[in-house]
Amino acid sequence: MSNEVFPVSPEWAARAIIDEARYKALYEASLRDPDTFWREEAQRIDWIKPFTKVKNVSFDPKNLHIKWFEDGALNVSVNCVDRHLKDRPDQVAIIWEGDDPKNDRKITYRELHAEVCRFANVLKARGVKKGDRVTIYLPMIPEAAYAMLACARIGAVHSVVFAGFSPDSIAGRVVDCDSTVIITADEGLRGGRKIPLKANTDEALKKCPGVTSVITVRHTGGDVAMQAGRDVWYHEEAAKVPADCQPEVMNAEDPLFILYTSGSTGKPKGVLHTSGGYLVYASMTHQYVFDYQDGDIYWCTADVGWVTGHSYIVYGPLANGATTLMFEGVPNYPSTSRFWEVIDKHQVNIFYTAPTALRSLMREGDGPVKKTSRKSLRLLGSVGEPINPEAWLWYHRVVGDGRCPIVDTWWQTETGGILISPLPGAIAQKPGSATLPFFGVKPVVVDTEGKVLEGETSGNLCIADSWPGQMRTVYGDHQRFIDTYFIQYPGMYFTGDGCRRDADGYYWITGRVDDVLNVSGHRLGTAEVESALVAHAKVAEAAVVGYPHDIKGQGIYAYVTLNAGEQPTEELRKELVQWVRKEISPIAAPDLIQFAPGLPKTRSGKIMRRILRKIAEDDFSNLGDTSTLADPTVVGDLVDNRQNKG
Ligand code: WT7
Repeated sequence: MSNEVFPVSPEWAARAIIDEARYKALYEASLRDPDTFWREEAQRIDWIKPFTKVKNVSFDPKNLHIKWFEDGALNVSVNCVDRHLKDRPDQVAIIWEGDDPKNDRKITYRELHAEVCRFANVLKARGVKKGDRVTIYLPMIPEAAYAMLACARIGAVHSVVFAGFSPDSIAGRVVDCDSTVIITADEGLRGGRKIPLKANTDEALKKCPGVTSVITVRHTGGDVAMQAGRDVWYHEEAAKVPADCQPEVMNAEDPLFILYTSGSTGKPKGVLHTSGGYLVYASMTHQYVFDYQDGDIYWCTADVGWVTGHSYIVYGPLANGATTLMFEGVPNYPSTSRFWEVIDKHQVNIFYTAPTALRSLMREGDGPVKKTSRKSLRLLGSVGEPINPEAWLWYHRVVGDGRCPIVDTWWQTETGGILISPLPGAIAQKPGSATLPFFGVKPVVVDTEGKVLEGETSGNLCIADSWPGQMRTVYGDHQRFIDTYFIQYPGMYFTGDGCRRDADGYYWITGRVDDVLNVSGHRLGTAEVESALVAHAKVAEAAVVGYPHDIKGQGIYAYVTLNAGEQPTEELRKELVQWVRKEISPIAAPDLIQFAPGLPKTRSGKIMRRILRKIAEDDFSNLGDTSTLADPTVVGDLVDNRQNKG
């Protein structure tokens, strides 16, 4: 832990939209009278029909409901596009930077309007109607933003599936939300390597009989198979439709999107976000946390396949009339200076990335950073996992030349937007702390019995009351929504994270307290990786835990018991890693696999992960009570055979 404090500089206090006094006053007002606070803040977006009710929420598990601005009507794409045509039609909305540094494009708000309308008309021509679910499996190209906004325009609910996911993962998500239309591209391009998106889609669709339409964007020009009747090229369809499309009138609580995310048990769940509250919250947090002001060039390096891409590449920035940069590539291609070169090329002012990327670049030394100017940078951001103070200090000193504040933003797919973060003109930073809550957010620290802990303390992090960006349900399984977030600590939303609160009231997120892993900022359920492993013909049983990893934050450690007669070989180890890559995604590949003749289980058959975690962490001294195990001797065996790191 670092004890250093980085105070707000006088320049920042003077320029920022929110200074310290204003943060304190507004925060206090937001908790004292949420209705008044949010009624005013919601005026930042254009309503077709103004709302009269602000908040209608109960966290009581027996009567759970979350509604914001419930009698208002709006259209999200109109807010992100049309309403900027009056003041800034020729301002660049999206700067696209390709994987190959020679490829880039700038799309103005006027052009964005035409593109979104055309895409919306293509969807309509394929029979998509309000309320239908559309799966988007696209690389980081502007068409991904057009497709999302086109869905929003016609009231279709999009489900973006990260382009790194396997055919099986796509199929599971398509079937779960019953989508009949998929938007994909011929191929993706990352670090010079091609990703066969259309071929993956074709493979997935063998398991999705309900899909009637595949709309394919031509991106690399690679060869793909087209199935007559089902598959169409986007550019051919787009040429047949007008560049104007009347937006649907949507209720504030109509669904905007579903995004699948991993939990501690079972299959990934479809997190459902709705229209009005989500947009108010995404736009407001984008403006205040990044202190976004007119003319700023803003770059978030996330992928649109994750919530960060939804809220802070597409919806938040575009609702604010911002210029948002979308990057197709990776941090180390063609060289490890790429991020900094892109910053210079496009004169980026605000840069938002993940600790794992910083740690991998830090390893290359200061040279690749220092050979670039980065003079345009004003603010840096971090998201996805706890940032270790060492990476924070490097980011600050080397990337930001000691000049730029860092906003360490804590939030989740479920929260829709940032809940805990410094505001750069208002809150002094401490490296490794997400600092203080955003307006309207009331964090509560509880112990495992549910007792609320006051003052300087540590425990599990809950949020006491709703905010407009909160998820509304798990698509198709409302009971799972209640059981996952509202049962453990009645009356509160349980985040699944542990945290510490220091004497200044600052929050330090310590990571998940459930069986969710955070590998390079990607969220994975141990249960998902386990079920992929046991699907292999030679595997009898598997238990997966996380362990500390220098670059990834957490690595994946898998204990595998083989079927009788199978031999634990180096070859099989490699085969299992490949198997999981193919079953889920390369991001889920185990870093270490230990073949174990037996797993530590209680007499009732429950695997004691606590022990497995300790062994994976190389912490053998403190295995705790093993007397309740059905066979305590397995532990000694596991310790003796621990897989070597590296
Ligand atoms: C989990 C949510 C937030 C969008 C990207 C990830 C961890 C996220 C931070 C942070 C410490 C963080 C938490 C959280 N996390 N940001 N700034 N400091 N931990 O969204 O995939 O839903 O994952 O990521 O553990 O619960 P997600």
